[in-house]
Amino acid sequence: MPHLEGGRKSQNTFQNDRLFRRVSVVQTIVVALWLMLPAYVPNNAAVVLGGGTPVDFGREWRGDRILGDGKTWRGGAGGIGAGFGLAVLLNAAVTQGYVPEFIPTFELRAAFALALGAILGDMGASFLKRRTGRKRGAPFPGVDQLDFVVGAFVVTALLAPEWFFAEFTVEVIVAVLILTPLLHVTTNLIAYRLGLKDEPW
Ligand code: CTP
Ligand code: MG
Repeated sequence: MPHLEGGRKSQNTFQNDRLFRRVSVVQTIVVALWLMLPAYVPNNAAVVLGGGTPVDFGREWRGDRILGDGKTWRGGAGGIGAGFGLAVLLNAAVTQGYVPEFIPTFELRAAFALALGAILGDMGASFLKRRTGRKRGAPFPGVDQLDFVVGAFVVTALLAPEWFFAEFTVEVIVAVLILTPLLHVTTNLIAYRLGLKDEPW
């Protein structure tokens, strides 16, 4: 009976479509996290490596610090180095064939831009905090969770536009914007419990 044959066939196609969609959602999430690793690491590395001379050299603007003692040259440079170094390691994992085919590589300029942008985004948030009367370490919900993502996106789109728009599709960007705040809250809570950070945000 041809119509039954056809019915079974279209049901199989339907199930294949659902499977395909589920696989591609998982792939999108994995790609999103992979691409953002060089932007996730810098601010965490800055917590461990930071200290010393503040980026604003202690200067004030309109009665408040420009950035504050929480943003140091050593933390910034160490963070950028850590993010860039991680991207180089991730690229090696791809070229050595340790990861699935769908995992992308980082253009070196893009790797640097992701790490630089994450550090600059965090500094931009501190600038806004000081302008809005928030002292060092004060929370700024929303801004704390996404400052480095916005910084990484903007700086990478400017410094490595072709790579950025090829790898950061709309789906990947949506995944990053949903997953990053969740990851950020979790990792900062862990860093706080371990005594690495003074506040849990
Ligand atoms: N850090 C650093 N240099 C940076 C970023 C961070 O040295 N560029 C270090 C500082 O010791 C900082 C700590 O990491 O205190 C935690 O970082 P963060 O939470 O971003 O800074 P806060 O101290 O909370 O300051 P702010 O209110 O300006 O965010
Ligand atoms: Mg803080």
